[in-house]
Amino acid sequence: MDLEAPPRAPKLNADAPWDAFDPHAYIDRNYRELLDVDAEIIAYVRDHFGDHFHKRFERPVLGIDVGAGANLYPALCMLPWCKEITQLELSSANVEYLRDQRVNFGTGWESFWQVLRKDPAYEEIHENRRARFTDTVRVEPGNLFDLVRRPAHWAIGTMFFVAESMSDSHAEFRSAVACFLRALAPGAPFAAAFMAGSTGYDVGDEYYPACDVDEAQVHEALRPFSENPRVLRLDKPTDMVRPGHEGMILALGHRNSTVHF
Ligand SMILES: C[S@@+](CC[C@H](N)C(=O)[O-])C[C@H]1O[C@@H](n2cnc3c(N)ncnc32)[C@H](O)[C@@H]1O
Repeated sequence: MDLEAPPRAPKLNADAPWDAFDPHAYIDRNYRELLDVDAEIIAYVRDHFGDHFHKRFERPVLGIDVGAGANLYPALCMLPWCKEITQLELSSANVEYLRDQRVNFGTGWESFWQVLRKDPAYEEIHENRRARFTDTVRVEPGNLFDLVRRPAHWAIGTMFFVAESMSDSHAEFRSAVACFLRALAPGAPFAAAFMAGSTGYDVGDEYYPACDVDEAQVHEALRPFSENPRVLRLDKPTDMVRPGHEGMILALGHRNSTVHF
């Protein structure tokens, strides 16, 4: 009898069980407490967006968080700068989670918000942050590959742990990055985060595919859409909870004005 586990079959984005994604199991593993690495990421993103908008008057703008899943901090990072934030999400379970959170977000997200308050624009809306979140966020069920139909629509964007954590195909990884960036208007600031060296991950009882990327591949995927993005490698912290990856990569940049057909 052969007791060896069969190798996992390759999985494209459309093959994974997204509707069975358990947001509560995902939060328990990743966001139950604020990890040092998330605090570091939030501080970088806060400063990147702050640098952009403190110098400019054209705000509030439209923002998008692509593949929002069960993570509210990308939307919180965009909150002072936006009149509307679209949380685009494929999984019906995550859409339901996001709709509940929009009305009254869980107290667990407060520690993430605290990191943002160091910038006066966030501090200014601190008292009203919950009402502001409810009024600004719009949860949209949908597939990021369909963003090709809405080029240059949003003026700020985030995409966290999606392009490399949705498929084991590098072609789909590059395509997801392209779809995200094409949806942003010229000059729009963006932040995108990636797991480095991930080979897949469990959420509750389900297994989800990932593709192994490094800083060079992230750079390569961003290059047509952004001149000189900052691509930062954040070390794997000791309390990191997702097995099978080597750390995190954060990309910060601005959408260029090149038109892509
Ligand atoms: C690893 S989770 C990341 C969630 C969240 N952004 C975060 O920072 O933790 C990947 C997310 O991408 C979503 N997703 C997968 N394929 C998608 C697609 N084609 N379009 C939109 N969202 C997708 C999943 O449902 C899931 O919420």
